[in-house]
Amino acid sequence: MSEPTAFAFAFDAESEEKIATILPRYPAGKQASAVIPLLYVVQKQMGRATGSTWVPREAMDVIAARLDMAPIRVYEVATFYLMFNTKPVGRFHLQICGTTPCWLRGSDDVLRACKDAGGLKGYGDSSADGNFTLTEVECLGACVNAPILCVDEDFYEDLDYDRTVALLESLKRGERPPYGSTIGRKTSAPEGGPMVLTGAEN
Ligand code: FES
Repeated sequence: MSEPTAFAFAFDAESEEKIATILPRYPAGKQASAVIPLLYVVQKQMGRATGSTWVPREAMDVIAARLDMAPIRVYEVATFYLMFNTKPVGRFHLQICGTTPCWLRGSDDVLRACKDAGGLKGYGDSSADGNFTLTEVECLGACVNAPILCVDEDFYEDLDYDRTVALLESLKRGERPPYGSTIGRKTSAPEGGPMVLTGAEN
C-alpha cells in the first residue's frame, strides 16, 4: 500500500485515556519504558481513524516528545518489533506462521488460500480492494493448534485450505468469526475432546 504524505499526528481522547493508565506504571524519570505500550496506542488509533493499523513516523515523534526521549530511540523500537507496522496495511493484516510445526501441519495450504481468496500475490502484498495485507511471521507460540493464521491480533487455529477461504470470505462480508480453534478444539485438548483425566476418579 502506498504511504500517505506527511501529516500531523495527535493522540485522540480515547488514546489519552489509555495513556493516563499506562504512564503511572513507571517510576519518575523512567517514562521511556512506556514506549512499546504507546506504540500500540498509536497503532490502534490509526486503525480507528483510517482502517489501517500502522505507526507513522510523525506519531513516533509525538511519542518521543511525550516520553522525553530521542526520536531515534522510538524509531529503533518500532522497526525492531514485527508487531508494529511502519507502513500502511490493509483492513485485515494476515500473518501466516511459516515455522516448522505450522509448515508440517499445512501452512502452505493456508498461504494458497490467502492468495486465492484474498487476491494476494504473496508475502508483502496488499490486495487491490484494500482488505488484506499478507505477512509471514515466525512461531506465534501456538504450535499445538498449528497451522495458525493471525488476523491483526486474533489467532485462528487448526486451519486448512477450505476453512481459511471461509474465514477470508467472512472478513470480506464484514463478519468477524470467533478466533481460536476452527475445528472446535477446546484450548489444546486432542481433537474430539480430552482423552485423560475425564472422570472424578482421576
Ligand atoms: S510454529 Fe506456528 S505457532 Fe509455533
